[in-house]
Amino acid sequence: MSNNEESNNRRRYLEAGEKRALALQNRGPLRFESSGQIARDIREAYEQYGFYIFEGVVNEQEISEVETQLNEVIERAPASKNGGLDIFGRPALGVDHKRSLYIWARPLSDPLGGTSILGGRHAVRMEEPTPRSGAPKVTVCVLQYTFGVMDSALRLSAHPGMLRVAETFAGPDFVPYNDNFHVKEPGLGSSVAWHQDGITHWEHPNWYPGIHGFNLMVQLYRTTPVNALWALPGTHRSGRVDLASLAAQNGGSDRLPDAVPVLCERGDAVICNRQLVHGSFANDSPDRRVTFIWGFFPRDAVLGVENDEGIDYQHDLYDEVRIEERMRIVQIAIDARHRRWPEEAPYRYAPFLGREEEARWSPELSRTLFRDYGEGRIIL
Ligand SMILES: [Fe+2]
Repeated sequence: MSNNEESNNRRRYLEAGEKRALALQNRGPLRFESSGQIARDIREAYEQYGFYIFEGVVNEQEISEVETQLNEVIERAPASKNGGLDIFGRPALGVDHKRSLYIWARPLSDPLGGTSILGGRHAVRMEEPTPRSGAPKVTVCVLQYTFGVMDSALRLSAHPGMLRVAETFAGPDFVPYNDNFHVKEPGLGSSVAWHQDGITHWEHPNWYPGIHGFNLMVQLYRTTPVNALWALPGTHRSGRVDLASLAAQNGGSDRLPDAVPVLCERGDAVICNRQLVHGSFANDSPDRRVTFIWGFFPRDAVLGVENDEGIDYQHDLYDEVRIEERMRIVQIAIDARHRRWPEEAPYRYAPFLGREEEARWSPELSRTLFRDYGEGRIIL
Protein backbone atom coordinates (compact mmCIF):
# COMPACT_ATOMS: atom_id res chain seq x y z
CA MET A 1 0.00 0.00 0.00
CA SER A 2 1.35 3.44 -0.88
CA ASN A 3 1.94 6.02 1.84
CA ASN A 4 -0.88 8.04 0.41
CA GLU A 5 -3.38 5.19 0.51
CA GLU A 6 -2.29 4.37 4.04
CA SER A 7 -2.77 7.91 5.26
CA ASN A 8 -6.18 8.07 3.58
CA ASN A 9 -7.19 4.80 5.26
CA ARG A 10 -6.04 6.11 8.58
CA ARG A 11 -7.88 9.40 8.16
CA ARG A 12 -11.08 7.56 7.22
CA TYR A 13 -10.77 5.30 10.27
CA LEU A 14 -10.28 8.26 12.60
CA GLU A 15 -13.19 10.17 11.07
CA ALA A 16 -15.54 7.19 11.20
CA GLY A 17 -14.58 6.56 14.82
CA GLU A 18 -15.28 10.16 15.74
CA LYS A 19 -18.69 9.98 14.06
CA ARG A 20 -19.57 6.79 15.93
CA ALA A 21 -18.37 8.34 19.21
CA LEU A 22 -20.53 11.42 18.84
CA ALA A 23 -23.58 9.29 17.99
CA LEU A 24 -23.45 7.49 21.36
CA GLN A 25 -25.76 8.81 24.10
CA ASN A 26 -23.06 8.83 26.76
CA ARG A 27 -21.98 12.39 27.42
CA GLY A 28 -23.32 15.44 29.27
CA PRO A 29 -23.03 17.28 32.56
CA LEU A 30 -22.86 15.41 35.86
CA ARG A 31 -26.46 15.20 37.11
CA PHE A 32 -27.89 13.70 40.29
CA GLU A 33 -31.25 12.55 41.58
CA SER A 34 -32.67 13.73 44.89
CA SER A 35 -31.44 10.44 46.44
CA GLY A 36 -27.88 11.61 45.76
CA GLN A 37 -27.30 8.96 43.12
CA ILE A 38 -26.21 9.82 39.61
CA ALA A 39 -29.19 10.42 37.29
CA ARG A 40 -30.79 7.20 36.08
CA ASP A 41 -30.25 7.84 32.37
CA ILE A 42 -26.51 8.33 33.03
CA ARG A 43 -26.35 5.08 34.98
CA GLU A 44 -28.13 3.25 32.20
CA ALA A 45 -25.89 4.70 29.51
CA TYR A 46 -22.78 3.77 31.52
CA GLU A 47 -24.11 0.26 32.00
CA GLN A 48 -24.83 -0.05 28.28
CA TYR A 49 -21.63 1.39 26.84
CA GLY A 50 -19.12 0.91 29.67
CA PHE A 51 -18.06 4.53 29.77
CA TYR A 52 -19.57 7.99 30.20
CA ILE A 53 -18.16 11.47 29.63
CA PHE A 54 -19.08 14.12 32.20
CA GLU A 55 -18.67 17.50 30.59
CA GLY A 56 -17.13 20.48 32.38
CA VAL A 57 -16.67 18.80 35.75
CA VAL A 58 -13.37 20.37 36.82
CA ASN A 59 -13.04 24.13 36.72
CA GLU A 60 -10.27 25.98 34.94
CA GLN A 61 -8.53 27.13 38.08
CA GLU A 62 -8.15 23.61 39.40
CA ILE A 63 -7.08 22.24 36.01
CA SER A 64 -4.42 24.91 35.66
CA GLU A 65 -3.05 24.17 39.15
CA VAL A 66 -2.72 20.51 38.19
CA GLU A 67 -1.16 21.44 34.86
CA THR A 68 1.45 23.70 36.51
CA GLN A 69 2.49 21.04 39.01
CA LEU A 70 2.53 18.34 36.36
CA ASN A 71 4.88 20.37 34.18
CA GLU A 72 7.17 20.95 37.15
CA VAL A 73 7.25 17.25 37.95
CA ILE A 74 8.09 16.35 34.35
CA GLU A 75 10.87 18.96 34.33
CA ARG A 76 12.29 17.48 37.52
CA ALA A 77 12.61 13.95 36.11
CA PRO A 78 16.08 12.41 36.44
CA ALA A 79 18.15 13.40 33.42
CA SER A 80 19.56 9.89 33.14
CA LYS A 81 18.52 6.43 34.18
CA ASN A 82 19.13 6.03 37.92
CA GLY A 83 20.53 9.57 37.99
CA GLY A 84 19.86 11.91 40.89
CA LEU A 85 19.71 15.24 39.02
CA ASP A 86 17.28 16.74 36.53
CA ILE A 87 18.34 18.34 33.23
CA PHE A 88 19.00 21.64 35.06
CA GLY A 89 21.27 19.98 37.63
CA ARG A 90 18.69 20.23 40.45
CA PRO A 91 17.85 17.20 42.63
CA ALA A 92 15.46 15.04 40.61
CA LEU A 93 12.08 14.10 42.04
CA GLY A 94 11.01 10.63 43.07
CA VAL A 95 14.50 9.23 43.60
CA ASP A 96 13.65 8.25 47.19
CA HIS A 97 10.26 6.74 46.30
CA LYS A 98 9.96 2.98 46.66
CA ARG A 99 8.14 2.87 43.35
CA SER A 100 9.37 4.83 40.40
CA LEU A 101 7.52 8.09 39.93
CA TYR A 102 8.26 8.13 36.19
CA ILE A 103 7.69 5.53 33.51
CA TRP A 104 9.37 6.16 30.18
CA ALA A 105 8.93 4.70 26.75
CA ARG A 106 10.59 5.08 23.39
CA PRO A 107 8.82 7.73 21.30
CA LEU A 108 5.73 6.40 19.48
CA SER A 109 6.48 2.85 20.65
CA ASP A 110 4.16 0.21 22.05
CA PRO A 111 5.82 -0.85 25.33
CA LEU A 112 3.16 -3.37 26.37
CA GLY A 113 1.62 -5.08 23.31
CA GLY A 114 2.50 -8.76 23.06
CA THR A 115 4.41 -8.79 26.37
CA SER A 116 3.63 -10.62 29.61
CA ILE A 117 3.62 -7.37 31.65
CA LEU A 118 0.49 -6.81 33.76
CA GLY A 119 -0.70 -10.37 33.37
CA GLY A 120 -0.18 -10.41 29.58
CA ARG A 121 -3.39 -8.52 29.07
CA HIS A 122 -2.08 -6.54 26.07
CA ALA A 123 -2.26 -9.32 23.49
CA VAL A 124 -1.86 -7.32 20.31
CA ARG A 125 1.00 -5.10 19.21
CA MET A 126 0.14 -1.61 18.03
CA GLU A 127 1.56 0.11 15.01
CA GLU A 128 4.73 2.05 15.84
CA PRO A 129 5.19 5.12 13.62
CA THR A 130 8.73 6.38 13.04
CA PRO A 131 9.59 9.32 15.30
CA ARG A 132 10.86 12.52 13.70
CA SER A 133 14.61 12.80 13.36
CA GLY A 134 16.19 14.33 16.44
CA ALA A 135 13.42 13.08 18.74
CA PRO A 136 14.57 12.26 22.28
CA LYS A 137 15.36 8.60 23.00
CA VAL A 138 12.66 8.34 25.63
CA THR A 139 9.54 10.20 26.68
CA VAL A 140 7.69 10.15 30.00
CA CYS A 141 4.49 8.21 29.39
CA VAL A 142 3.22 7.73 32.95
CA LEU A 143 3.66 9.51 36.27
CA GLN A 144 2.52 7.21 39.03
CA TYR A 145 1.79 7.73 42.71
CA THR A 146 2.12 11.47 42.43
CA PHE A 147 0.32 12.51 45.63
CA GLY A 148 3.63 13.16 47.44
CA VAL A 149 4.81 15.58 44.77
CA MET A 150 1.49 16.96 43.51
CA ASP A 151 -0.96 18.24 46.12
CA SER A 152 -3.16 19.27 43.23
CA ALA A 153 -3.54 15.62 42.12
CA LEU A 154 -4.38 14.54 45.67
CA ARG A 155 -7.08 17.22 45.83
CA LEU A 156 -8.41 16.36 42.39
CA SER A 157 -8.83 12.72 43.44
CA ALA A 158 -11.36 13.92 46.04
CA HIS A 159 -13.56 15.87 43.64
CA PRO A 160 -16.97 15.53 45.33
CA GLY A 161 -18.88 14.99 42.08
CA MET A 162 -16.55 12.22 40.97
CA LEU A 163 -16.61 10.55 44.39
CA ARG A 164 -20.40 10.50 44.14
CA VAL A 165 -19.94 8.77 40.80
CA ALA A 166 -17.68 6.26 42.57
CA GLU A 167 -20.27 5.72 45.29
CA THR A 168 -23.01 5.15 42.74
CA PHE A 169 -21.12 2.38 40.98
CA ALA A 170 -19.11 0.76 43.80
CA GLY A 171 -21.16 1.49 46.92
CA PRO A 172 -20.37 3.92 49.76
CA ASP A 173 -17.32 1.92 50.91
CA PHE A 174 -15.49 2.02 47.58
CA VAL A 175 -11.78 1.10 47.78
CA PRO A 176 -9.06 2.90 45.81
CA TYR A 177 -6.36 1.07 43.93
CA ASN A 178 -3.96 3.38 42.11
CA ASP A 179 -3.61 6.81 40.56
CA ASN A 180 -1.46 8.12 37.77
CA PHE A 181 -1.11 10.52 34.91
CA HIS A 182 -0.95 9.24 31.35
CA VAL A 183 1.13 11.66 29.33
CA LYS A 184 1.19 11.61 25.55
CA GLU A 185 3.50 14.32 24.32
CA PRO A 186 2.99 15.64 20.77
CA GLY A 187 4.92 13.54 18.25
CA LEU A 188 6.29 11.30 21.02
CA GLY A 189 3.52 9.71 23.11
CA SER A 190 3.65 5.93 23.15
CA SER A 191 0.61 3.73 22.49
CA VAL A 192 -1.24 1.56 24.98
CA ALA A 193 -2.17 -1.70 23.30
CA TRP A 194 -5.81 -2.84 23.38
CA HIS A 195 -6.68 -4.54 26.65
CA GLN A 196 -9.20 -5.10 29.42
CA ASP A 197 -7.94 -4.17 32.88
CA GLY A 198 -9.28 -7.08 34.92
CA ILE A 199 -7.11 -10.08 35.73
CA THR A 200 -8.44 -11.90 38.74
CA HIS A 201 -12.23 -12.14 38.57
CA TRP A 202 -13.16 -13.38 35.09
CA GLU A 203 -14.09 -16.83 36.39
CA HIS A 204 -15.65 -15.56 39.61
CA PRO A 205 -18.88 -17.44 40.45
CA ASN A 206 -20.69 -14.13 40.97
CA TRP A 207 -19.09 -12.31 38.04
CA TYR A 208 -20.85 -9.12 36.93
CA PRO A 209 -19.76 -6.28 34.61
CA GLY A 210 -18.65 -4.05 37.50
CA ILE A 211 -16.66 -6.62 39.45
CA HIS A 212 -13.22 -5.36 38.37
CA GLY A 213 -14.12 -1.76 39.28
CA PHE A 214 -13.71 1.33 37.15
CA ASN A 215 -11.31 4.09 36.23
CA LEU A 216 -12.10 7.76 36.60
CA MET A 217 -10.22 10.14 34.33
CA VAL A 218 -9.88 13.89 34.11
CA GLN A 219 -8.54 15.45 30.93
CA LEU A 220 -6.10 18.33 31.14
CA TYR A 221 -6.51 19.06 27.44
CA ARG A 222 -9.05 18.53 24.68
CA THR A 223 -8.59 15.05 23.24
CA THR A 224 -8.62 14.25 19.54
CA PRO A 225 -9.21 11.01 17.60
CA VAL A 226 -5.41 10.63 17.27
CA ASN A 227 -4.38 11.12 20.89
CA ALA A 228 -7.53 10.02 22.77
CA LEU A 229 -8.22 6.81 24.60
CA TRP A 230 -10.27 4.48 22.38
CA ALA A 231 -12.83 1.94 23.55
CA LEU A 232 -15.03 -0.83 22.20
CA PRO A 233 -18.46 0.13 23.58
CA GLY A 234 -20.32 -2.58 25.50
CA THR A 235 -17.40 -5.02 25.78
CA HIS A 236 -17.36 -4.72 29.59
CA ARG A 237 -20.42 -7.00 29.49
CA SER A 238 -18.87 -9.69 27.26
CA GLY A 239 -16.49 -11.40 29.65
CA ARG A 240 -12.92 -11.80 28.53
CA VAL A 241 -12.51 -10.73 24.92
CA ASP A 242 -10.10 -12.65 22.67
CA LEU A 243 -8.15 -9.65 21.41
CA ALA A 244 -5.67 -11.69 19.38
CA SER A 245 -8.53 -13.20 17.32
CA LEU A 246 -10.19 -9.83 16.99
CA ALA A 247 -7.03 -8.36 15.51
CA ALA A 248 -6.50 -11.45 13.30
CA GLN A 249 -10.03 -11.10 11.91
CA ASN A 250 -9.13 -7.50 11.20
CA GLY A 251 -6.18 -8.49 9.02
CA GLY A 252 -3.77 -7.96 11.92
CA SER A 253 -4.60 -4.26 12.05
CA ASP A 254 -4.86 -2.44 15.37
CA ARG A 255 -7.68 -0.29 13.93
CA LEU A 256 -10.48 -2.33 15.45
CA PRO A 257 -13.81 -1.84 13.72
CA ASP A 258 -16.56 -0.36 15.96
CA ALA A 259 -14.06 1.23 18.35
CA VAL A 260 -14.58 4.89 19.28
CA PRO A 261 -12.35 7.65 20.64
CA VAL A 262 -13.27 9.04 24.07
CA LEU A 263 -13.52 12.66 23.00
CA CYS A 264 -13.29 15.25 25.76
CA GLU A 265 -12.65 18.91 26.40
CA ARG A 266 -10.25 20.25 29.02
CA GLY A 267 -11.85 19.68 32.43
CA ASP A 268 -14.14 16.86 31.29
CA ALA A 269 -14.17 13.69 33.38
CA VAL A 270 -14.85 10.10 32.36
CA ILE A 271 -15.86 6.91 34.09
CA CYS A 272 -14.63 3.83 32.27
CA ASN A 273 -15.42 0.27 33.31
CA ARG A 274 -12.11 -1.60 33.74
CA GLN A 275 -13.46 -4.56 31.77
CA LEU A 276 -14.10 -2.42 28.70
CA VAL A 277 -11.70 -3.13 25.83
CA HIS A 278 -9.63 0.03 25.56
CA GLY A 279 -6.30 1.30 24.28
CA SER A 280 -4.70 4.22 22.49
CA PHE A 281 -2.58 4.84 19.43
CA ALA A 282 0.86 6.45 19.34
CA ASN A 283 0.49 10.22 19.44
CA ASP A 284 2.11 11.44 16.25
CA SER A 285 -0.19 14.48 16.31
CA PRO A 286 0.77 18.03 17.38
CA ASP A 287 -1.60 17.83 20.38
CA ARG A 288 -0.59 16.88 23.90
CA ARG A 289 -2.79 14.58 25.94
CA VAL A 290 -2.56 14.38 29.73
CA THR A 291 -5.10 12.34 31.66
CA PHE A 292 -5.29 11.97 35.43
CA ILE A 293 -6.55 8.45 36.12
CA TRP A 294 -7.62 7.00 39.42
CA GLY A 295 -10.09 4.30 40.23
CA PHE A 296 -12.01 2.21 42.66
CA PHE A 297 -13.09 -1.34 43.42
CA PRO A 298 -16.26 -2.47 45.16
CA ARG A 299 -15.04 -3.49 48.63
CA ASP A 300 -16.54 -6.97 48.57
CA ALA A 301 -14.85 -7.69 45.22
CA VAL A 302 -11.40 -6.88 46.53
CA LEU A 303 -11.47 -8.07 50.14
CA GLY A 304 -9.14 -11.04 50.59
CA VAL A 305 -7.81 -10.92 47.04
CA GLU A 306 -4.17 -11.74 46.55
CA ASN A 307 -2.37 -10.99 43.37
CA ASP A 308 1.18 -10.89 42.10
CA GLU A 309 0.77 -9.54 38.61
CA GLY A 310 1.61 -5.93 39.41
CA ILE A 311 3.76 -3.84 37.15
CA ASP A 312 6.84 -4.95 39.08
CA TYR A 313 5.32 -8.19 40.34
CA GLN A 314 4.58 -6.89 43.80
CA HIS A 315 2.96 -9.54 45.92
CA ASP A 316 0.06 -8.23 47.92
CA LEU A 317 -3.04 -9.14 49.84
CA TYR A 318 -5.99 -6.81 50.23
CA ASP A 319 -6.98 -7.67 53.76
CA GLU A 320 -8.99 -5.50 56.17
CA VAL A 321 -5.86 -3.63 57.28
CA ARG A 322 -4.69 -2.89 53.76
CA ILE A 323 -8.16 -1.78 52.69
CA GLU A 324 -8.36 0.57 55.68
CA GLU A 325 -4.97 2.08 54.76
CA ARG A 326 -6.07 2.67 51.18
CA MET A 327 -9.44 4.12 52.25
CA ARG A 328 -7.71 6.48 54.64
CA ILE A 329 -6.02 8.12 51.67
CA VAL A 330 -9.45 8.97 50.23
CA GLN A 331 -10.35 10.75 53.46
CA ILE A 332 -6.98 12.55 53.59
CA ALA A 333 -7.57 13.71 50.02
CA ILE A 334 -11.01 15.00 51.01
CA ASP A 335 -9.43 16.97 53.85
CA ALA A 336 -6.68 18.36 51.60
CA ARG A 337 -9.28 19.44 49.11
CA HIS A 338 -11.44 21.09 51.76
CA ARG A 339 -8.50 23.17 52.98
CA ARG A 340 -7.87 24.44 49.46
CA TRP A 341 -11.54 24.96 48.49
CA PRO A 342 -13.36 25.58 51.82
CA GLU A 343 -16.46 26.95 50.13
CA GLU A 344 -17.12 23.65 48.34
CA ALA A 345 -19.22 21.02 50.15
CA PRO A 346 -16.83 18.12 50.71
CA TYR A 347 -17.73 14.56 49.82
CA ARG A 348 -18.85 12.57 52.87
CA TYR A 349 -17.02 9.25 52.74
CA ALA A 350 -19.02 6.69 54.72
CA PRO A 351 -16.10 4.60 56.10
CA PHE A 352 -14.67 7.70 57.84
CA LEU A 353 -17.82 9.44 59.02
CA GLY A 354 -17.28 10.40 62.65
CA ARG A 355 -13.58 9.61 62.56
CA GLU A 356 -12.32 12.27 60.18
CA GLU A 357 -9.66 13.19 62.74
CA GLU A 358 -7.84 9.98 61.88
CA ALA A 359 -7.25 11.19 58.36
CA ARG A 360 -6.10 14.79 58.37
CA TRP A 361 -3.87 16.12 55.65
CA SER A 362 -0.59 17.83 56.51
CA PRO A 363 2.47 18.79 54.44
CA GLU A 364 4.39 16.14 56.39
CA LEU A 365 2.47 13.42 54.60
CA SER A 366 4.23 14.31 51.36
CA ARG A 367 7.49 13.18 52.91
CA THR A 368 6.11 10.15 54.74
CA LEU A 369 2.88 8.41 53.74
CA PHE A 370 2.81 9.69 50.18
CA ARG A 371 6.36 8.70 49.45
CA ASP A 372 5.46 5.04 49.67
CA TYR A 373 1.71 4.74 49.38
CA GLY A 374 2.10 2.96 46.07
CA GLU A 375 3.88 0.15 47.85
CA GLY A 376 1.75 -2.93 48.03
CA ARG A 377 -1.04 -1.88 45.70
CA ILE A 378 -3.07 -4.52 43.98
CA ILE A 379 -4.04 -5.09 40.39
CA LEU A 380 -7.46 -6.67 40.40
FE1 LIG B 1 -6.30 0.07 31.08
